[in-house]
Amino acid sequence: MNIPTKSLHLFSPLTVKSVTLRNRIGVSPMCQYSATDGMMNDWHLVHLGARAVGGAGLVIVEATGVEPRARISPADAGLWDDRQIEPLARINRFLKQHGAVPGIQLAHAGRKASTAPPWQDGGRSLADAEGGWESVGPSAVVFGAEISRAPREMTVEDIHVAQAAFRAATVRALNSGCEWLELHAAHGYLLHEFYSPLSNKRSDNYGGSFENRIRFVIETARTMRQVWPDRLPFTTRISCTDWVDGGWTLEESVELAKRLKAEGVDLIDCSSGFNAPDISTIPFGASFQVPFAERIRREAGILTATVGYITNAMQADAIIRNGQADLVLLAREMLRNPYWPLEAARIVRQRKVLPPPVQYSRAIE
Ligand SMILES: Cc1cc2nc3c(=O)[nH]c(=O)nc-3n(C[C@H](O)[C@H](O)[C@H](O)COP(=O)(O)O)c2cc1C
Repeated sequence: MNIPTKSLHLFSPLTVKSVTLRNRIGVSPMCQYSATDGMMNDWHLVHLGARAVGGAGLVIVEATGVEPRARISPADAGLWDDRQIEPLARINRFLKQHGAVPGIQLAHAGRKASTAPPWQDGGRSLADAEGGWESVGPSAVVFGAEISRAPREMTVEDIHVAQAAFRAATVRALNSGCEWLELHAAHGYLLHEFYSPLSNKRSDNYGGSFENRIRFVIETARTMRQVWPDRLPFTTRISCTDWVDGGWTLEESVELAKRLKAEGVDLIDCSSGFNAPDISTIPFGASFQVPFAERIRREAGILTATVGYITNAMQADAIIRNGQADLVLLAREMLRNPYWPLEAARIVRQRKVLPPPVQYSRAIE
C-alpha cells in the first residue's frame, strides 16, 4: 500500500472511509470510573466535550463494557443495554457540534474485571461481598497480586456469548451516533489475553499456535465489521509487545495487523504491555511506542495511530511529518490541558486551520 506522507503534518485532515478528522490529534480512550449502571452522565459530557472544544480531531470514549461482567470496575461505562444509548448520544451530538469526530472503544476486561476504581485501594480485585463478580479468561491464570481474582476458563459457548455482546454493542454504538469504532484488544484485557501466550494456556482451537491464539480477536473483529457500516472507520488497539520473554512479540503484531486488515480493520492503534504486572524493562519515555506504529504501518500497509509519552506539539508534528504514524493519540497530556490542540496549532503555525471556538475568538488569539 502506498501511503502518501509528503508534506503531511499534524494539522492535515485525515480521511478514513467517509469520515474526515480535522487534524491528526485524537483523545486516547480513558476510563473515568464515573458511570452508574454503565450509563454515562454529565461528567463524561464535560470531560469529553471540553476536549472537542479544545480542538481534537477525534475523541474516543473510554473502554466501554459490552456486558456487565466485561467491566473493569462497577463504575465503568457500558453499552450492553439500550438505555445506555441516549446518554452517549447526547455526548456525541456535542462532540460533533464542536468539530470532533465521536469515537468509542468497546471492551471486555476478561481476567482484569471486577476491580475497584484505581483511586480505591489501588484498583485491587473486588470480592463478591464487595460488589465483585466472576471474571473470565482464556485460562484460569491469575494476573497478579493486586488483581488476584482467578478467572474462570471460558467455554466455547462463553466465547460466542462475548462475541455476540461485542456485536450488539457495536450496533448500539452506531445508534448512539459514534462514527469511529475501536475494538480494545490491548492492555491485558480479554482479547489480548487470548493472543498472548502469557495468559492463554488452552489446548483447543483458541489456544496454542499463533493461528489459534488470534482466532478470538479475528472472529470478534469480523462479527463487529458485519454490523458496523463499511463507510465508517473500524480500528483495533493492540499491545504490540508483552515486553516479556516468551510473550507476544512485535513480529506477531505485524502479522496480526495484516489479518485484521483483511477483516476490514482500517487502522491499528499501537500500544503495548499490561498483560503482566510490574515489568521493569519497559523503556517508558518520549515517543517510546512510535517504532511499533511505524513498523506496522510499513510492513502491514495499514494506517496506524501512535500513543504514549507524547506531550509536545513539535514532537507530535514530527511523527506525522516523518511518516511514522497517521494519527497521534494523547491521554495524560489531554488531562493536563484539554486545549492542547489549540495551543499546538499556535506553536506549529497552523492557527488559521484551528482557530479558537467562536465563543472565545474575540478574547484570545
Ligand atoms: C486515566 C487513564 C485512563 C485510561 N483508560 C484507558 C482506556 O479506557 N482504554 C485504553 O485503551 N487505554 C486507556 N488508558 C491508556 C491511554 O489511552 C494511553 O494509551 C496511555 O495513557 C499512554 O498515553 P499518554 O502517555 O499520552 O498518557 C488510560 C490512561 C489513563 C491515564
